This record gives sequence, structure tokens and C-alpha cells, in this order.
Amino acid sequence: MLELISRKILQKIPAEMAHDLSIKMLASPASFVVSSKQIINPIKLLGINFPNPVGLAAGFDKNADATKGLSSLGFGFIEVGTVTPKPQAGNPKPRLFRLKENQAIINRMGFNNKGVKHLVSQLEKAKPNCILGINIGKNKITPNEKAVDDYIYCFKKVAHLADYVTINISSPNTVDLRQLQEDENLVHLLKSLKETQKSLHETTNKYTPIVVKIAPDQDNETTKKIAKNIKNSGIDGIICTNTTIEKNNLKKECHQDETGGLSGKPLLSRSNEIIKTVRKVVGSKFPIIGVGGILTDEDAMSKIHAGADLVQIYTGFIYQGTQLIKDINNKLIVHKKEENNT
Ligand SMILES: Cc1cc2nc3c(=O)[nH]c(=O)nc-3n(C[C@H](O)[C@H](O)[C@H](O)COP(=O)(O)O)c2cc1C
Repeated sequence: MLELISRKILQKIPAEMAHDLSIKMLASPASFVVSSKQIINPIKLLGINFPNPVGLAAGFDKNADATKGLSSLGFGFIEVGTVTPKPQAGNPKPRLFRLKENQAIINRMGFNNKGVKHLVSQLEKAKPNCILGINIGKNKITPNEKAVDDYIYCFKKVAHLADYVTINISSPNTVDLRQLQEDENLVHLLKSLKETQKSLHETTNKYTPIVVKIAPDQDNETTKKIAKNIKNSGIDGIICTNTTIEKNNLKKECHQDETGGLSGKPLLSRSNEIIKTVRKVVGSKFPIIGVGGILTDEDAMSKIHAGADLVQIYTGFIYQGTQLIKDINNKLIVHKKEENNT
């Protein structure tokens, strides 16, 4: 009830202000007022025991300021970031827009974040009581030829705190970032990251799985190449997908023509197509986390049918709140029972 009232109020104020207020509320010691019971629907993936397969996608808590509150909402895992080596302001405001009629959001935040040092200090102060992914990126001022250095720098800083690390090369809001998905760039980046992962494993005795988050906008042949390169490089998994720059077929409403990445319902089918394509290339055992357009339990089920092992939500969480985490888990529990009975 309290959550419903807060959400109704938050939806009346400008989107980024509402977001910042939510982070403050979740970071406050009183955030237990919205806490839910841990949902038990265990699944093992990437060598990690997830309490349930429904995660919070990257971008909501970019600085790991609110992990304590977020970890009490019922998520099976939380992905913080994208974090970059140095703090950066991101794009000028306004840069976050609700498209309510389309059950969607357009954002062009541009990796606004307080830098990896801040994120690490937040997590060292209070390690959240949940499975934690840390999503890393490159600074805007770092040219693509030097991007590897940024990813390696961040990976070394966060690997000891993360259950897994996500390599974000798919945000549409950092100029030319998606070029890092291209053949040679990708192979070079992933080779360097694997070497760093291996040497950290040897020195610290902790293996931190790496997953790569990909875009939904390339054609199928390119997606196949990306998936092949990721698998061949020994990377541990793939997250499909980030937001889309494709804005056809939107219902007419205010803000539909804003520049940025589109998330929410209009992304669902494209994102599922990418999962299907990737699954065919990587085979049945390779970990895939599906994200993009989940607004209902049925949407989540469609991702599982497309080939995802786990799912993440962002826009659906904004519009539906914690009830969506429960609904998806209930649906998946029933599905698992039915599968076991056949
Ligand atoms: C406001 C906003 C900020 C985001 N920031 C990031 C980010 O920093 N890093 C990232 O990998 N994805 C980011 N995303 C993408 C989401 O993690 C997710 O991939 C995308 O929104 C699709 O899921 P959804 O339809 O459930 O929202 C962001 C999305 C939104 C709406």
C-alpha cells in the first residue's frame, strides 16, 4: 500500500527527480518499510546460487548507493552501474522521459556516475545481502582505441566485490561505444579481460565470471558474429539486451521523438529475437540473461521460452513496482512444476 502511494506520487514528478528520490528513499535506513520477503525459487548459473531468477537491470543504481534497500525488495540479484573509471556528469538534462502510453522509457543519461572509487567504497561500507552484478563501462573522453584500459581498470577495482561483472559495450548514449561489439575490437577487448580475470583468479583465488551485454539493433548476421566471438573468447555469459534506438511503431505521445535508448514494452519482441539468435549460436548450456520489455509475468515467460536462463527488469519495475518480481517468480515456479511433471 505504502509502495503504491509512493509510486503514484513519484509518477507525478519529472522522471529523473523521481528516480533520484527513489534512490534516496532506498538508501535511507528507513527503507525497510518497503521490504518484501526473500522469494525462494533457486537457480544455479555462472557457478552462482541465485535465490530466484529475477534481477534488477543495470542503470537504476549506478553508484551502488541503494543496494541495501534494493536487496530487500525480493530480487534474486541486483546489477549496479554502469560505472566508469572517473566520475562523469553524463548528458545535459532533461535526459529521461516516461512514455506511459507505450509502457516505455527513453533515456540518454550517458553514463552519469560518481566513478568506480565511489562505488567500491559504497560496497565496502555495506556489502549487500544479495547476489551482486557490477556493470562497467568506459569514460566518454576515453577514445575507443584506449577503451580496453578503462574496462581493465574497472574490472580490477570491482572483481573482489562482484558475484559477476558485466561488460557494457551496448549503451546507445556513449558515442561509438557499440563499435566495441565489432569483430577485432571485441576479440581484443575480451582477450585482455580474460587475461586479467585469469591472473586475478590466480592471485586472489576468487574467480569472477564475466558477462557481456549486447545491443538489440544490429542485424541477425552481426548478432551471430558477436555471440560467436563472445563464446569463443571464453567469456562466461551474455546479457541480451540493452535499450534500442529503433522507435518505429510507437503509439503517439509526448516525448516519443526524444533521442536516446528506448526500453520497456516496445523492446520486448526485438530483444527476444536477439536471445533466440544468440541461443542458436552458443548452444543450450551457455548462460544467457534476458532483459528488455518485461512488463508482465507473461513477458518474462516469453524470454525463458526464447532461451534466457535468468531475467532482469528495469522499466517494468518503474511502472509495476515490486509486485512484478512476485508475479514473475510465481509464473516461473508454476512453469517449473509443469515441466517436472511432463
Ligand atoms: C534510465 C535508464 C538507465 C539505464 N542505464 C543503463 C546503464 O547504465 N548500463 C546498462 O548496461 N544498461 C542501462 N540501462 C538499460 C537497462 O539495464 C535495460 O537493459 C533496458 O532498459 C531494457 O530493459 P527494460 O525494458 O526492462 O527497461 C538503462 C535503462 C534505463 C531506462
